[in-house]
Amino acid sequence: MSPDLATDLCRLLSIEVPVVQAPMAGVTTPEMVAAVGNAGGMGILGSGGTPPEELRRQIRRVRELTDRPFGANLVLHSQLHPPTDAATIPEAVVEEVQAQLNRFRRRLGLPEKSGRPPNPPHFVDEAFRVILEERVPVFSIGLGKPTPEMGRACRQHGIRILAMAATVADAVELAASGVDAVVAQGGEAGGHRSTWVKPGSPGRGAIGLMVLLPQVVAAVSVPVLAAGGIMDGRGVVAALALGASGVFMGTRFVATHESAASEAYKAALIASDSDSTTLSDAFTGLYARMLRNTLTEEYAASGAPVFPAPLQQAALEDVRGTATARGDGEFFPRYTGQGVGMIRGREASGEVVRGVVAEAREVLAALARRAR
Ligand SMILES: Cc1cc2nc3c(=O)[nH]c(=O)nc-3n(C[C@H](O)[C@H](O)[C@H](O)COP(=O)(O)O)c2cc1C
Repeated sequence: MSPDLATDLCRLLSIEVPVVQAPMAGVTTPEMVAAVGNAGGMGILGSGGTPPEELRRQIRRVRELTDRPFGANLVLHSQLHPPTDAATIPEAVVEEVQAQLNRFRRRLGLPEKSGRPPNPPHFVDEAFRVILEERVPVFSIGLGKPTPEMGRACRQHGIRILAMAATVADAVELAASGVDAVVAQGGEAGGHRSTWVKPGSPGRGAIGLMVLLPQVVAAVSVPVLAAGGIMDGRGVVAALALGASGVFMGTRFVATHESAASEAYKAALIASDSDSTTLSDAFTGLYARMLRNTLTEEYAASGAPVFPAPLQQAALEDVRGTATARGDGEFFPRYTGQGVGMIRGREASGEVVRGVVAEAREVLAALARRAR
């Protein structure tokens, strides 16, 4: 008989297996979230920059496809909520950033720009209201902590809160704020470092999961999920051995059939090895792990400053949009974790969950025999 993988997290979230598909703005789709739920895990919609009515549409679409629990994510970084006002950026910084971006614009044949970027629309409060109104079972937070009002509103609506931290101190703060479970994000993870204050260098807040996870487990009394580099059943067993109650997997789902990532992005992930990533703030102003490309490398080499979030992304919109439309991976961000070297090809999201769980069961049984 294969060992049962149900943990306290499964009971907390009413799911069968402790595999959670991480929210990934621009990549997750209702189809992905539903496929993961129907396979017994839990999927989470990413929503950074998604207009609230589009988020509502996605939530309702998930419900058409599954009756299983799922989540919706908001990014609550201190530079994003409330958002930095472009009027506060010093003139010298505006000139330096635009001069650097103009080097990329010239290469792409785009008109040069000067002056402050536009303040993009701010959706967080309205998006949170949608999550409450739609009674999404799980509210997931990246790069921030819930306000006391958010915590109260979620409790009143019967919504569980999962929040992500990249350091032990932040995990302790999240647990004290009353969240139902903490996600420990190791430095291997794809996407943004989950801190609410930008660290002074990319290496800060990027602690390997192997050492972060047991320390977070020891420091908090709520269930802990492991995020960062978990790509298969061996990773699930390792995370459970280090005290996690479940896993939070992003990178493995980026190249699935249900992912909204472009074909060029998926192909680049399949072709990349684990040494292909870097931590860069060039695309959004906050450090994120992605595939190295011309833009990350030349921006870092230039020594130019970046605008705070959300203004760096707003300033880069023309570069990023043009490169994305052309499939030119050298100038748009391809977020991925160090586990990218373990992506084998395009696959179905439900099959990822079923395969990871079957492998975890086999690994557990084999381990018991091997280590007798
Ligand atoms: C393409 C991509 C986009 C991401 N977008 C978000 C996001 O919108 N919100 C968030 O909280 N985390 C986001 N993350 C981080 C994930 O929540 C998670 O920490 C990470 O994927 C786990 O590590 P792994 O990628 O090695 O599996 C993103 C990760 C990736 C790979």
